[in-house]
Amino acid sequence: MSVRFTWLGHSAFVFEFDSHKVLLDPFLTGNPLAAGSPDDLEAEMIFLTHAHGDHIADALAIARRTGAKIVANAEIANWASRQGVESHGMNTGGGYDFGFVHAKLTPAFHSSSFPDGAYGGNPNGFVFSTRSGQRVYFAGDTALFSDMSLIGAAGIDMAFLPIGDNFTMGPADSLAAIKLINPKVVVPMHYNTFPVIMVDVAGWANRVSSETDAQPIVLDPGGSYSL
Ligand code: NI
Ligand code: MN
Repeated sequence: MSVRFTWLGHSAFVFEFDSHKVLLDPFLTGNPLAAGSPDDLEAEMIFLTHAHGDHIADALAIARRTGAKIVANAEIANWASRQGVESHGMNTGGGYDFGFVHAKLTPAFHSSSFPDGAYGGNPNGFVFSTRSGQRVYFAGDTALFSDMSLIGAAGIDMAFLPIGDNFTMGPADSLAAIKLINPKVVVPMHYNTFPVIMVDVAGWANRVSSETDAQPIVLDPGGSYSL
């Protein structure tokens, strides 16, 4: 039993829970770091943290081609349903057992509107719990917030945190977040995609190693890791 992930650039990932593939925030079209094509990716489900274009970009097209179900807050799920895509709506604090994985929506301090300006509901993160008991926290786009300690108290094996600054927390706040969450492994995301979110990721990783108990996993786009 394992969790494997592949970074597609920005906050887009493939997660494999045992043999089950899901996508998170699939932003390939228009993503300068995209490691993959929306025409090739396979998924049983697509988890979306919020409605911004750099997160939902290719979700509908992939869902239509693959039959993947979109899982997100109620506003995004309703938007997907209105366009003929199967969806499962949730809301902050709620969890649901999807069979091969349980997913719970966490708060995220950010905003959430669709590219046309329509209201996208509140932004979220996810805590995934696998059948073998591994827990993965995918923070989405967020600022640092002290209740991350409550998320960490449940025991997090792997945390995915934005570090790009400007739109989300930056490297320094992410170090404070790691101390609150105390994951075994931490994976940076939402950085180096655009000039305003360029980060010295090697310097970040050195600080994570020296100042926290977490192991940083820095991948090139297209890279994979298993825990
Ligand atoms: Ni955003
Ligand atoms: Mn974003």
